[in-house]
Amino acid sequence: MANPPEALPHPFSRPSRPGAVSLVSPVELAKMVAAAEPPLVVDVRAVSERALAHFPGDRSVPLSELPRRYSELPSGRPIVVYDQFGSQARRAADYLLRKGFPRTAALEGGLDEYARLVDPTIPRYTAGLSPGGLLLRQFPRPDSGCLAYLAVDVTTEQAVLIDPGLDVAPYTAALADGHWNLRAIVETHTHADHLAGHAALHASTGAPIFVSHRSPAQYPHERLREGDTLEVGPEAIHVLETPGHTRDHLTLRLGRSIFTGDTLLIGACGRTDLGDGDPELLWSSLHEKILRLDDATEVLPAHFGSHHALVDRYASSLGFERATNEALNQGSKEAFLTYMTEGWPPKPADFDRIVRTNLET
Ligand SMILES: [Fe+2]
Repeated sequence: MANPPEALPHPFSRPSRPGAVSLVSPVELAKMVAAAEPPLVVDVRAVSERALAHFPGDRSVPLSELPRRYSELPSGRPIVVYDQFGSQARRAADYLLRKGFPRTAALEGGLDEYARLVDPTIPRYTAGLSPGGLLLRQFPRPDSGCLAYLAVDVTTEQAVLIDPGLDVAPYTAALADGHWNLRAIVETHTHADHLAGHAALHASTGAPIFVSHRSPAQYPHERLREGDTLEVGPEAIHVLETPGHTRDHLTLRLGRSIFTGDTLLIGACGRTDLGDGDPELLWSSLHEKILRLDDATEVLPAHFGSHHALVDRYASSLGFERATNEALNQGSKEAFLTYMTEGWPPKPADFDRIVRTNLET
């Protein structure tokens, strides 16, 4: 009988020498990659997962192949190994350290955390569902501070796009690259700050446009109400009506994530003084719908960055927002209503025109 292959650490074992594996945070890795001596970034996930998303410029050595392929790696160069959520990478780094690669570290939190903290354009996917499963990609638009979202069931190749911007080229390119079919375009609300891309996407893909039944939209659309669902593979997008920022605002829940539009932003809430907003309705939506979800719920907003006086972050948790969000920490409903109605910058000069255009086409 042939000698058994050299055993890898058990999938559920901890690294054999506690503290031996250096961990690199996503932000540290971004700095390292931009420095004079960038590390070799090694993906230890299965090839099927790698097809969904990977770190730019990396090398693939799946964990199962490491015992026979570790000698391909450069022993003198810094190495950062990663997987999707961080645990396999620790085992791989521990293995490489024992095999004579002293400058090896593991990416803390994996590619998922890197996408969340550093590069939102890297698609994320749900744990335990690979190679099928749900893929989520953010599309940040730095010029306008807007975020659109693509959710894809990679098994059936059906996709849903949320809050697309006017330039639809990035979405159509992603759909073409993945060979995905767009089955629904969803607007969380009638936008007042930017022109929306639903009309152009509908024209090029034929996908129906879904909006709140409260929307005064004049283009052909499907109406969504509280409790409605849109199927995306094994999961469903659940519709919550959250009026306040606008009367027609929807929040969409998909698994443990909520697409909050402008109802809940990171550190703030969308203003209620543009169009038909109402701070009383926003208070009710926040307290009767959003804040009833648990703290681990991931918050995926429609805006980010300085363009909207927000932080440069693309995702948060409801627990973090509950503890730190300025709008949620006013102390009383009365204080919240005052906060939402006083001290906001002047209304954008062209918001009327933008709203009108977004409703007509
Ligand atoms: Fe908005």
